Amino acid sequence: MRVLGIETSCDETSAAVVERDNNSVRLRGLTIWSQDVHRIFGGVVPELASRAHLTAIAPVVEDALQQAGVTLAEIDGIAVTCGPGLMGALLVGVAWAKTVAWRERLPLIGVHHLEGHLFAPTLEMDDVTPPFTALLVSGGHTLVLDVPTWGEYQLLGQTRDDAAGEAFDKVGSLLGLEYPAGAAIEKLAATGNGKRFPFPRPLIKEGLDFSFSGLKTAVLRAVQKSDNLDRDRADIARGFQDAAIDVLVTKTIRAADEFDRSLIVIGGGVACNKALADAMVAAAPPARRRVSVASPRLNTDNAAMIAAAGSWRLMRGERDGNDLEARDALPLPGLIRSSEVSA
Ligand code: KG4
Ligand code: ZN
Repeated sequence: MRVLGIETSCDETSAAVVERDNNSVRLRGLTIWSQDVHRIFGGVVPELASRAHLTAIAPVVEDALQQAGVTLAEIDGIAVTCGPGLMGALLVGVAWAKTVAWRERLPLIGVHHLEGHLFAPTLEMDDVTPPFTALLVSGGHTLVLDVPTWGEYQLLGQTRDDAAGEAFDKVGSLLGLEYPAGAAIEKLAATGNGKRFPFPRPLIKEGLDFSFSGLKTAVLRAVQKSDNLDRDRADIARGFQDAAIDVLVTKTIRAADEFDRSLIVIGGGVACNKALADAMVAAAPPARRRVSVASPRLNTDNAAMIAAAGSWRLMRGERDGNDLEARDALPLPGLIRSSEVSA
């Protein structure tokens, strides 16, 4: 089955073609057009994002089809991110997908953006199959999930304030780095001394929830106190990254222990952080546990992961009609909150 994926939930206009054969899914073409227009505003401007998606979507899809060496006539289904995300941005992708699916008489499936992030590693590894523990860390979300089977997600922990990526971006702005700052902080931190700024590890001792706002405030104080930020920048970045990673890894391992899972999947933009993946591997000895992370371009927002998740749902016979709607606060399908699960 050959599926065209569309992703427009935030500031990336992306299209991809994947081929699925049962549990094996492979990437045939992927185009990601990152909207540069937001850079000068230090964050995504929703109205500008919608307009840029409108301009870009047709050529982006054309490019992905060309890479795959196919035409729309050779596509078996369309998968599109229908939430969560920026409403106006989502609407562009959903309207486009609905129109083309109707015109070409193709099956259509709406995909939850986070389910897409969960499927990303399956594009590169056939052995990423449930059950596993998942850490989803992006600019908008920080979740720990237990995944007993595809399509069933038990929410074990989430952030009580900022998302992990948001914390990287805010700390980046305090350090005078451009948005989004995650990759720049990782680069700086690699040259920094982690001992100079031992920042707090919020909530590390208890439960599976996260909190990053206190850590961010601690960084703010360190920046305000510094009499030479050029000298301290890399050390502060390192102190922050070490603290954030320590919390993310500790909670994920705690969840994997609780459910006795031997596979850990890390997804979302922050999963591009090599220090995070390395720390997870170090904390989960390979003899006992495998850690799976997709390549960076499949971890930040992209349509390949949407096509991977959508093709799995299409393969099961799921279909959406022309009444598919974009929803900015869409709940993950198949989500069970731990409080709803009997002990
Ligand atoms: O998944 P994503 O592309 O978009 C959302 O769905 O939010 O994630 C973007 C986030 C940004 O906050 C960015 O700073 C962060 O991922 N990020 C990183 C790294 N690369 C991207 N954070 C830490 N280290 C990185 N190397
Ligand atoms: Zn994302």
